Amino acid sequence: MRLRHVRLGVAKAFIGVAVLIAGCSANQEQVEQSPEVEKVPEQVEVPLLKDVYADYFPIGAAVKTGYIEPYSDLMNHYNSVSMEYEMKWSALQPEEGRFSYAASDEIIDYAKKNDKLVRGHTLVWYRALPAWVLSEGTTEEQALDRMRAHIAAVIEHYGESVYTWDVVNEALADNPTQAQVDSGNFYRTGKEATGTLTGDWYALTGIDYIKEAFREADRVRKELGLDITLFYNDYGLNIPAKREAAVKLIKELQADGIAIDGIGMQGHYYLGDFIMDEFENSIKAFTELGLDVQVTELDISIYPYGSTDEVYDELPETIANIQAVMYGGIFNIARNYSTPKAEGHGRVTGITLWGIADDLSWLDNEPVKNRKNWPLLFDEEQLPKPAFYAVTQF
Ligand code: XIL
Repeated sequence: MRLRHVRLGVAKAFIGVAVLIAGCSANQEQVEQSPEVEKVPEQVEVPLLKDVYADYFPIGAAVKTGYIEPYSDLMNHYNSVSMEYEMKWSALQPEEGRFSYAASDEIIDYAKKNDKLVRGHTLVWYRALPAWVLSEGTTEEQALDRMRAHIAAVIEHYGESVYTWDVVNEALADNPTQAQVDSGNFYRTGKEATGTLTGDWYALTGIDYIKEAFREADRVRKELGLDITLFYNDYGLNIPAKREAAVKLIKELQADGIAIDGIGMQGHYYLGDFIMDEFENSIKAFTELGLDVQVTELDISIYPYGSTDEVYDELPETIANIQAVMYGGIFNIARNYSTPKAEGHGRVTGITLWGIADDLSWLDNEPVKNRKNWPLLFDEEQLPKPAFYAVTQF
């Protein structure tokens, strides 16, 4: 009851100006190791997220191999998993023709034994991309051949163990201006990609790589008879100009008869830099195109984007409560769109949190190294936060 009161009390705090919701530096990633985590999670008596949302959609968490075992109790809340790294190109095919599926297969195995869906993240991205795929001197034909071969091999390897794929990730510019959107010049390239030709798909192929990626993924699923879906995934899609860019991209794909089932709104949000109505407007726009929507990487940083003067040692209660309001609003809208609004419209089919609990968030080092953040539904003791109650009490 107390919480509900606080939530209403601070609801008006969100009149912030929407600004860039970036989460990614443009550097190419090195191969990542999954850290060892040794912890026995505590539990308090609360309903499981997946049970509360059973009539709506699956609730997922992003994991790494080392996280699963120590967090097995907390993982009961989630009935879907995404992999933070293990399915990225540099993890799966570090050298041409040498595939390394072991780490991801471990998670797939866990998911199967524990009745969890797996979201595939991600087939084509400018980051976590080995230099052999696309760098200085690579021809367009080579790059597209390599991309198609990667997509075909990977989709075939997992079959229906992966129920949906982020086929292309982050192809749109960070924060396009309206003028860029109007002129159609809103794709990620140059400085917003890696700043070199390595990984700059757009510089080499224009949007053909996006079209070809979806065509190939669709071809493979048909050939193998797989019941899987294909998503375009990006961040900042709640910002009006970027939403419009995404809509233009989707319309172009659809006009070419290219199969695309959904849009992943990553959802790396920042307290204060978020307008709930714009989030809803995006869901509305995408579902009206006939696409399903999933929030695929939800976390809410307690800091605005960039470095900050203030750095907290622990999560202040007021901030936890404001964060709860924002979480509550996002889940509320997602529930409202979980059934199609009209014939031919898509719907919201999932929310995935980008992490299990606050002690495992990438935001502790992004975009500022070693700055503790509390972006998720469970705190660093694995206890439910006000945000947890805000999304489960409705
Ligand atoms: C992040 C992971 O969480 C980190 O562990 C890794 O170092 C970098 O990638 N958008 C995406 C995700 O699509 O793949 C990113 O994940 C977060 C931003």
